[in-house]
Amino acid sequence: MRSENPVYREDNNVYIFKYRDVTAVLDDYRTFSSQFRDLMAPEMRRQLDELSSPSILILDPPKHTKLRNLVSRAFTPMKIASYEPEIRKITNALLDVVDGRSTFDIVKALTYPLPVLVISKILGVPDRDMEKFKEWSDNLVRVLGFGVDMDTEREMAQYFSGLIDERKHSLSDDLISLLIRAEVDGEHLTRQEIIGFSILLLAAGNETTTNLLSNAIVTFSEHPGSFERLREERSLIPTAIEEVLRYRSPVQSTRRLVKREGRIGDMKVEPGDFIFVYLQSANRDEDVFPNSEEFIIDRKENRHVAFGEGIHFCLGAPLARLEARVAMEELTKRYGDIRAVHVSPEDRVDSFIMYGYRRLEVQ
Ligand code: HEM
Repeated sequence: MRSENPVYREDNNVYIFKYRDVTAVLDDYRTFSSQFRDLMAPEMRRQLDELSSPSILILDPPKHTKLRNLVSRAFTPMKIASYEPEIRKITNALLDVVDGRSTFDIVKALTYPLPVLVISKILGVPDRDMEKFKEWSDNLVRVLGFGVDMDTEREMAQYFSGLIDERKHSLSDDLISLLIRAEVDGEHLTRQEIIGFSILLLAAGNETTTNLLSNAIVTFSEHPGSFERLREERSLIPTAIEEVLRYRSPVQSTRRLVKREGRIGDMKVEPGDFIFVYLQSANRDEDVFPNSEEFIIDRKENRHVAFGEGIHFCLGAPLARLEARVAMEELTKRYGDIRAVHVSPEDRVDSFIMYGYRRLEVQ
C-alpha cells in the first residue's frame, strides 16, 4: 500500500500509510480533529457527558491545551522517575511467583499485570479493587475504535467519584490527589474531567504497555542473540525498546475527522471524511528508516511514531518506557535467555488497532 496507494480513499474513509503524510496529518489539528464524541447520537452523548467529560485524547484546542497542561503536572520527568522503585518492586514480586518454572505464560505472569498494578498504585487505587480494575480495563479495550461500553463507563465513573470524595478529605501524593490539586490560571479540573482522565489512563495505558512488553519478547526470540546481548549490555535496553516500538508498534493506527477542506498529498479531503492513520506502516517507511523491514537492535536514528505525533503525543510515553526498561533489566538479571516457545496467530490480541499477544509461552 505504501508504495502503490500511499493515500487511499473508499467513500468517506481515507487511509494513509507514508511517514510524511502521517506526521503531516497528526501535526495539523486545525484540519484533522480528534473530537469523536461530536459524532455521537445526542442522547448517548448527553448520558456519557454526565458521567465523564471527554478526555484529552478526544479533544481539540483550546480545551485540549488547557486540560493537557493541567494533567501534565502528574507526568513530569521527575514524577515519572519517582515511580521506578515501585515498578521494580512490582516486577520482582510478579517474577518471584514463576521463579524456577521451566516454562510459563509471560503475559499472565508479567506483561499483563505489571501495567495495571503500576497505574493502580499511581492512581492510589486500593489493592482490593485491583481485580475490578483489570476487568474494566479489558472492557474498555474491547470496544476501542468501535464505540462505548456504557455499563463499564457508569461503574467506573461511580467508582472514581467515590475515590475523589475520599481524597478530597485527605489529600495524599497519589495521582487523583494531584489532579484535585492541579491548577492553571486559577482553574481546577472538574469532577467529570478527573473521571474522564482516569478512565483514559486505564484505556490508553494498560493494554498498550502489555503489548510493548510481549512484542519485545517475541521480537527478541525471532532474533537469536538479542536477549543475551541485552544481558551483557544493559545500557542498550532503551535503544532496543525504541526499535521494538518501531518494528512492532503496539498501537497500529489512530483516526482523525476532517473538519475543514484540506489535502493529504494529492488527495483532497473535506469535512466529514475519516482519516485512518497507519502508525505501523509509517514506522516501516523505507524513505525514513534505512532497512525498514529489519529489526536492528541498536538502530541509531529512530524517529518512530509509535507514540503518535503533535499535540496528542502520548502523555504516558515516559512511563511506558520506564516500565519496559525495568522489566527488561529484571528479566535479564534473572534469566540467561528467554524465548517464546510457541507464537501462534490465534494468541494475538483480537484488534485492528492494537498489536500484541493474549498469551505467550516462554522458556
Ligand atoms: C496518547 C500510544 C502507553 C497515556 C497516545 C497516542 C498513541 C499512544 C499512539 C496518540 C493517539 C492519537 O494521536 O490519536 C501508546 C503506546 C503505549 C502507551 C504505544 C505503550 C507502549 C501509555 C501509558 C499512558 C498513556 C502508560 C498513561 C498511563 C496516554 C494519554 C494520551 C495518549 C493520556 C492522550 C494524549 C493527548 O491526547 O494529549 N498513546 N501509549 N499511554 N497516551 Fe499513550
